[in-house]
Amino acid sequence: MTLLAIETSCDETSAAVVQSGRVLSNVVASQIQLHSEYGGVVPELATREHVRNLMPVTRRALREAHVMVAELDAVAATRGPGLPSALMVGLKAAQGLAFALRKPFQGIHHHEAHLYSPWIGGSPPSADFNAFRPNVSLVVSGGHTMLVHVEGELKHRLLGSTVDDAAGECFDKVAKLIGLAYPGGPALEKLATEGNGQAFAFPRPMLQEANDDFSFSGLKTSVRYCLRDNPKILSDGQRIRDLCASVQAAIVEVLVTKTLRAAERLKVGWVTASGGVTCNQALRQELAAAVRRAGLRLRLAEKSLCTDNAAMIGVLAERKLLAGESPSPLDTEIAANWALVETA
Ligand code: KG4
Ligand code: ZN
Repeated sequence: MTLLAIETSCDETSAAVVQSGRVLSNVVASQIQLHSEYGGVVPELATREHVRNLMPVTRRALREAHVMVAELDAVAATRGPGLPSALMVGLKAAQGLAFALRKPFQGIHHHEAHLYSPWIGGSPPSADFNAFRPNVSLVVSGGHTMLVHVEGELKHRLLGSTVDDAAGECFDKVAKLIGLAYPGGPALEKLATEGNGQAFAFPRPMLQEANDDFSFSGLKTSVRYCLRDNPKILSDGQRIRDLCASVQAAIVEVLVTKTLRAAERLKVGWVTASGGVTCNQALRQELAAAVRRAGLRLRLAEKSLCTDNAAMIGVLAERKLLAGESPSPLDTEIAANWALVETA
């Protein structure tokens, strides 16, 4: 099967061509530059950029894959969750193309796609479903932090999620407090690499609670109070680096500890992780070390597939169609608040 996938849920316009699990192309046009001026994603601007970029990005994905539109067997797009008007651009374009080609259309849940991105690897990238094993999956993006029990292919159960700020949001908000541009996560990590992660004792929210939920707004508030009470930190380069390292250490410890606890409780042999925050090297290393100590195995999404991309949408859509799942009706609407519901 040759499938075109489109992703426009937030601030990346992406199109990918997937063929029998192989990612033939995965073009991503990021809008980070545009939004950084405003300190966050501006939905109207994001939508306008998607409209502007979708056709060139899609044409390039087809060209790089050496696939003609007429050769497509199916079309897929992210249906939700995400920014409503941004989702609409990709979903409606994909449905229009499927209608014109008289081919099946598949509307995909963005986070369900993240769950399978760690199984895509190699060069050129390919989805290795033969290697798939039941796992506990950590999905950490700008807007979501969740733990999911992926019991089998296309079978998952949400274990817990963030009750307020997501981990990426916490990185971004703390970065803003110290004057870094949006999205602050990568810039904060850069400073953290030269800092002492034990210099500040920031809270580890919900670490001790017997559930799989997360909460990071208290951590952000604690950083705010720390800076209010010790404003000199902001003019001391090393203290800023120590603060960044300490915030990162707190976030990473919570994410790693709760992920491992869920994996051990559910007796799965594998842990996986994906989403923008999984680009963070400290998280990658700590997760790898903890998984090794526990005698488990780890699949981390490759960095290029951690952030939003259409390849993961295409891989999941193709898997669903090949597994006999019904295509989505061509008038399916977006689902901006689509919850990751349990699959049978
Ligand atoms: O998955 P993603 O690209 O977009 C959403 O769907 O939200 O994730 C973006 C988030 C941002 O909060 C960004 O600051 C964070 O991922 N992020 C990082 C790093 N790279 C991206 N956070 C910490 N360290 C990084 N290296
Ligand atoms: Zn995402």
